[in-house]
Amino acid sequence: MPARKIIIDTDPGQDDAVAILLALSSPEQIEILGLTTVAGNVPLDLTTRNARIVCELAGRTDVGVYAGCDRPLGRDLVTAEHVHGKTGLDGPKLPEPTMEIAPEHAVDFIVETLRKEPAGTVTLCPLGPLTNIATALQKAPDIGEKIQEIVLMGGAYFEVGNITPTAEFNIYVDPEAADIVFKSGIKITVMPLDVTHKALVTKERNDAFRALGTPVGVAVAEMTDFFERFDKEKYGSTGAPLHDPCVTAYLLQPELFSGRHINVEIETVSELTLGMTVADWWGVTDRKANATFIGDIDADGFFALLTERLARL
Ligand code: BDR
Ligand code: CA
Repeated sequence: MPARKIIIDTDPGQDDAVAILLALSSPEQIEILGLTTVAGNVPLDLTTRNARIVCELAGRTDVGVYAGCDRPLGRDLVTAEHVHGKTGLDGPKLPEPTMEIAPEHAVDFIVETLRKEPAGTVTLCPLGPLTNIATALQKAPDIGEKIQEIVLMGGAYFEVGNITPTAEFNIYVDPEAADIVFKSGIKITVMPLDVTHKALVTKERNDAFRALGTPVGVAVAEMTDFFERFDKEKYGSTGAPLHDPCVTAYLLQPELFSGRHINVEIETVSELTLGMTVADWWGVTDRKANATFIGDIDADGFFALLTERLARL
């Protein structure tokens, strides 16, 4: 089978970084057409810096990094330095990037790439707020039918929320953008907190990354060392949840995951529950199914895949 063509839309973030590294490690299965950055965990200049640091860490300066939207469609930006640190990629000491930022705006890159490639051959992988994707769909509605699938990290049902009691960060930051994407009619697969909170780094799993002894293995171990303190304190969990790598692992080994094809709506009005993903998991409405909402993961299989693939870099 030819490699699946993807665009990763991202706001690195330690877990975004691991997701990107996993995709970069598997060129026979995944062809990255470009990395598009968005404001999210930290402001856009830092997410764009961090995306380039990750490419350089993997020795892949040939991958285009396109800077995108610096704020949500209609709201002030909310960031998550309390989780990811001041730079968004706190933990390992990595050199400042020297590779260039691609001259094109991320939204233009997404639109032009989708128009150029044969219909139904490009998958979008959003790992942050959905601002770039929604802007592209608004600007060029014709691209909708050209997208093979959107596999995104965002939302929650049983886990409810992490940035507010009822909202997950990526959806909360730009609920209007999420609403556009979920109403687009495009095939969507969602990795919510319900599954990502099961993809937990334990000490043994992190030791396995470190034991790779490579710059990538050591950097990933140091990223999760930093990233885990937040979730350990908040949830009492064993370690960092690797949210975003669930997206790229799903592309490589979908059988590790299971979920339901259901209706998912985004709350955009209520102050109390803004950004909530109202997921009809139990099928209690007659609202049309619009997304495959993943609920479970074979966590051991996921970490085995991740460690084996990171070893290649
Ligand atoms: C999501 O928000 C960010 O902090 C992470 O990178 C992930 O994409 C988890 O809620
Ligand atoms: Ca992210």
